[in-house]
This record gives sequence, C-alpha cells and structure tokens, in this order.
Amino acid sequence: MATAGKVIKCRAAVAWEPNVPLIMEEIEVAPPQESEIRIKVVVTSVCHTDLYHLFEGKDKRGFPTVLGHEGAGVVESVGPGVTDFKTGDKVIPLFLSQCGKCRFCKCPKTNLCDSSWSTKYHDTMADPSTRLTCRGQPILQFMGTSTFSEYTVINQFAVAKIDDNAPLDRVCLLGCGITTGYGAAVNTAGVTPGSVCAVFGMGAVGLAAVMGCKNAGASRIFAVDINEQKFEKAKVFGATDFLNPKAYNKPISEVLAELTNGGVDYSLECVGNTEVMRSALESCVKGWGVSVLVGWTDVKDFSARPIQLLSGKTWKGSLFGGYKSKDSVPNLVCDYMNGKIKLDEFITHKMNIEQVNDAINLMKTGECIRCVLNISK
Ligand SMILES: NC(=O)c1ccc[n+]([C@@H]2O[C@H](COP(=O)([O-])OP(=O)(O)OC[C@H]3O[C@@H](n4cnc5c(N)ncnc54)[C@H](O)[C@@H]3O)[C@@H](O)[C@H]2O)c1
Ligand SMILES: [Zn+2]
Ligand SMILES: [Zn+2]
Repeated sequence: MATAGKVIKCRAAVAWEPNVPLIMEEIEVAPPQESEIRIKVVVTSVCHTDLYHLFEGKDKRGFPTVLGHEGAGVVESVGPGVTDFKTGDKVIPLFLSQCGKCRFCKCPKTNLCDSSWSTKYHDTMADPSTRLTCRGQPILQFMGTSTFSEYTVINQFAVAKIDDNAPLDRVCLLGCGITTGYGAAVNTAGVTPGSVCAVFGMGAVGLAAVMGCKNAGASRIFAVDINEQKFEKAKVFGATDFLNPKAYNKPISEVLAELTNGGVDYSLECVGNTEVMRSALESCVKGWGVSVLVGWTDVKDFSARPIQLLSGKTWKGSLFGGYKSKDSVPNLVCDYMNGKIKLDEFITHKMNIEQVNDAINLMKTGECIRCVLNISK
C-alpha cells in the first residue's frame, strides 16, 4: 500500500468534551508500531457504551477522544513483529483483548486479559497510548479501538481476523453488543433447555440476550422494557411474553413471581441501571435462580438484601459475553454466515459517519436498535 509507513490524514468524529456533539475533523493517524496494525475502518455502529461515555460517565478525563468500538474494516499495514495479519485481511477490532500470555488469558474461567486498556484506564475508558492526533493534540483511543475514524491503530492482540467473505456492514455488530448479549445468556448465565428467562432492556444487547436464551432452548422468555415499541423486535428474536414495569403498581419482580410460580430461572440486566439490576435479581427464583449483569454503569453502587443470595440465588456479570475475544469473534462470524445467529434484524438505520450525531440522538430517544455508519467513501 502506498500509505504504509506514512502518517495518514483522514476524517474522524472527535468528541472534544462530554455532553456536546461530535465534530468531524481531519486527524493524523501514525504508522503502526511494534505488534500494531493500522486498520481502514469500513463501517461502525453505535453502542450505548459510546453514549455512556459522552453523556453519563462521571470521570471526565477521557477526552478528547474518538468514540466507536463496534466496527469492521481491512488491514492497511502492519507494524514490526506482526505475524497474525497482512494487508487486506478483513478484521474486527476488539475492545477486550486476548494476548494469550497473561494469567487471565491462560485461565479458561474468564475472558479478561491483563493487556487490555481497561486494566489501567478503566476509569477514563480511553487509552492514552494513542496513534491519533488532531490540531496538534493527542486524541485518546476510546476503549482502545476508536472506530468513528477512517483509520485506527490497534495492537494485534485486540483484533480478530475474520472470513474473507464476511459482510462487514453486518458482522461489525459482533464487535460488541450482539456478542455481549448473546454470550451473557449462553456462557455467563448458562441458560438450559426448558428454562424460563427474563431479559431487562430491549436494546441490541438485550435482544441478543433473548436470541441466546432462545438458542439455548429456553421455553419461555419475558422481554421487560419501559418502551413498548421494542416488543415487536423482541418477538423476532424469540421472546414469548412482554412486560412494561410502568404498567403495574407493584414491583415487576412480584409480577414475574406470580406468572412463573415463584420467579424465573435466569434473568439478565441489559439496561445499565442499578435499580434494574436489583429488580432482575429479585425476579429470579430462590434455590437456583441466576441473575447476570450486562448493562454498563460505574457511577453508583448497587444494593440488594442479603437474603436474596442466602436463599441460593447467584448474582454474576460478564464483559463481552464471557467470550475469549480473538478466538471467538471469527467463529461467531461463521455462525452468522451459517444462519445460526441473526444480525440483519438488529439494524434499523444506515447512515454515513457525517451523520453520527443523528445516529447518537436516535439511540438516545430509543428509536434505533443499531445504526450502521459507512466510513469509507
Ligand atoms: N457488559 C458489556 O460488555 C457491555 C457491552 C456492551 C454494552 N453494554 C451495556 O449494555 C447496555 C445496553 O446497551 P444497548 O446498546 O442495548 O442500549 P440501548 O440504549 O439500545 O437499550 C437499552 C434499553 O433499555 C430500556 N430501558 C431503559 N430503562 C429501563 C428500565 N428501567 N427498565 C427496563 N428497560 C429499560 C430502554 O428502553 C432500551 O430499550 C448499556 O448499559 C451498555 O453500556 C455492556
Ligand atoms: Zn458496546
Ligand atoms: Zn491476556
């Protein structure tokens, strides 16, 4: 490639500060260093975690940044020591790395990786060891990925090489939300055939959790959301019952207990709200109920009465659906291509990167499940 080894000037949506619209800027992207890959991002979608950082997070040190962590693209060039990738490979950036060497990577019980940006920069959600600059300033790399940019540079341990025939405008969703929700059901909760499940929050993450419950053989799946417009989509992914907590004058856990003879076997919180986390736990049956935290929030403590756990319930959580990222994403791409999992049905909008603020607003108002943004002209 003519650009290899040179600084690339390209377009990116920069978040200069919290709570204000992103600005399309020309940025410079340095060549990849040791073990790094420069990626031409072809498409990206918007996940609620981008909105969380922009509007909800309390730690404001993670700016200026380029948001975006649900993208797909093609390798433009590779740095010294890169063995797993070559120019032209189709890839998905991973916000959770898999170095294969650390204590966590070597343990089959977890998908965490000590080499991930989150080990050091969990509070600010942005990696300062960035190859991006704009107007003479370093631009932090949100979740180590920054896919709202035509080019980005990522360490090879945080990139998955995928099938050459994979449609990037759909498999980009596997970079976060769908893998997260689906894996939370099949891996973290370990949903069993014939079980009764409740999923709280019908965004892409919750809908993917519904799909996971269905594929794992659940017999009844409650979709819980305060926006009833989401229920039509929930049905597409396999939900059998629909509950709006606002339509009842008692806690939704009591409603679920009455409908299920004491509570559900598995509940998954896919909202990112500590009150809903509590409610999801309380909705599980005593003795064996399992409740999984999937929604992302780090601004408040959560609470619950100890009897909830003393009575035999399990409360757990996962990042990226518990999947070892680099190993699993290529397999999930194949699962999509073989019809085992759905992706097309999550996409409600398609736009260009220039319209990223419109996409963010659609997500904020709940009108959109996933909006895929074209980046390359
Ligand atoms: N654990 C992880 O690795 C991980 C990865 C990706 C996303 N997330 C988190 O998952 C969550 C969902 O992401 P998304 O992109 O699907 O978001 P989204 O905004 O599209 O969906 C959230 C849904 O929750 C519903 N909701 C809001 N308040 C509710 C309430 N009180 N009760 C029931 N439903 C309620 C909304 O109407 C909406 O349908 C976010 O918190 C996101 O940050 C976590
Ligand atoms: Zn995400
Ligand atoms: Zn590791």
